[in-house]
Amino acid sequence: MMPITRILVADDEESMRWVLSKAFKRKGFSVDLAIDGRQALSMIQDNNYDLAIFDIKMPGISGLELLDKIREQKKELLVVIMTAEASMKNAVEAMKRGAYDYITKPFDLDVIDAIIEKVSRAREVAGQVTMLKQELKERYQLEKNIIGNSAVMREVYKTIGKVAASDVTVLVQGESGTGKELVARAVHFNSGRLGKPFVAINCAAIPRELLESELFGSEKGAFTGSVERKLGKFEQANHGTLFLDEIGDMPLDLQAKILRVLQEREVTRTGGNQNIPVDVRIVAATNQELIEKVRQKEFREDLYYRLNVVPINLVALRERREDIPLLVQYFLGRICAEMDIPRKQCSDDAMAVLCAYSWPGNVRELENAIKRAVILSSDLLLSAGDFAGLEAVSGGQTSGSQDASLEELVDTKLRSCLNGVEQLEKGEIYTMVLEQVERPLIRFILEKTRWNQVKAADILGINRNTLRKKINELGIEMKRD
Ligand SMILES: Nc1ncnc2c1ncn2[C@@H]1O[C@H](COP(=O)(O)OP(=O)(O)OP(=O)(O)O)[C@@H](O)[C@H]1O
Ligand SMILES: [Mg+2]
Repeated sequence: MMPITRILVADDEESMRWVLSKAFKRKGFSVDLAIDGRQALSMIQDNNYDLAIFDIKMPGISGLELLDKIREQKKELLVVIMTAEASMKNAVEAMKRGAYDYITKPFDLDVIDAIIEKVSRAREVAGQVTMLKQELKERYQLEKNIIGNSAVMREVYKTIGKVAASDVTVLVQGESGTGKELVARAVHFNSGRLGKPFVAINCAAIPRELLESELFGSEKGAFTGSVERKLGKFEQANHGTLFLDEIGDMPLDLQAKILRVLQEREVTRTGGNQNIPVDVRIVAATNQELIEKVRQKEFREDLYYRLNVVPINLVALRERREDIPLLVQYFLGRICAEMDIPRKQCSDDAMAVLCAYSWPGNVRELENAIKRAVILSSDLLLSAGDFAGLEAVSGGQTSGSQDASLEELVDTKLRSCLNGVEQLEKGEIYTMVLEQVERPLIRFILEKTRWNQVKAADILGINRNTLRKKINELGIEMKRD
């Protein structure tokens, strides 16, 4: 946590403001002054102070009222109250209302030093506690997070446990939406690097020209527009874990550079000549057959073997259907809790539909299907009808007359889906409906172009990176012809 830098002083007495401001400024703090409670309150609302020190008796809003407001709006702001000796009762009251400390007027300037000292230490401790809490939370959530009791998933847990303690490189492979990122995080949070950064970079989502400096950083003036030195992901992840997502999309020349970093354990920023040592654990992931890319000379063999020290292969959901009921219960619980609504249940026939579906988008698609059903259904018990789209896809049947226009078909279908929904204000319907139009459209064009993303993006009239992102988000399974 940062040391204190910004202080607000509020007192209606001008001499007091002057003395305090001078004392703080001499110590190098930046000080703002307020002449009464009202002004103090608005300044507190508009700025992030590290410490506020004010008189308990001020015209307008009193110090005590101000404390109440701060507790409502800026809980983390530390407040020191000044009182006249005669009003010790007020000091007690102030402490009860959340003041961090109080001083009595008149005071010696040593008292100010002591306060600053104490406040700094308190902030440091508070910072450590928050960090620990955050870590514990993340760790706890993770252990809850990866769901599945199939033999293949149990094997995955075992591997995570075995590799976590060491620094070996892990390559996570699996179709889109199978939980690769989840596994990468689990490796990090169960390792000795817990508490150090976990930095992820999606190699497919970043244009080639930017990817290099994103990874390795750049010096000021390395290329037009680089006005500042930039730390690359390797440096950002120092002592922690770097997650190289979609590594299969890494351009060949950058593959060579990555390999060099892995071998030498140092990076050179673009436009720089200094070798900077980095201590980073690598977890890479891909939804492509990497070994196939090696055969086609699109992926360096030496890098492949460097990354693939320990492979973790995530099996498609349709090949471990026994995990589906567990995942359904888990997502129902989590989604309803997040939305703060009573927990919905899944009827037997709905569960049968979910277990029979092929889930090309794997766990992500399942999660989205449940979210959609929870939002759209007004019932506490979800029925097969709430997952109607899935039946249609797995059954392959189409409904509606041949001559109806797409818009008419969508219109009819939408009305029947949204019918009977009482709460239409939950705020996700737009995205959800669009997804259901986008997914078949993109899949269709990809099939037509024989899964050539460059051509497909051209025909669709969207950027290639946008297309890749959509394919991931929508859980479209990439095939080869
Ligand atoms: N076993 C699982 N248990 C609980 N949630 C899961 C599981 N697997 C995946 N998820 C959830 O599904 C979603 C997709 O997971 P994740 O992003 O890790 O997949 P991915 O394999 O990285 O996908 P992509 O290849 O598209 O990037 C996330 O919301 C994740 O929390
Ligand atoms: Mg991912």
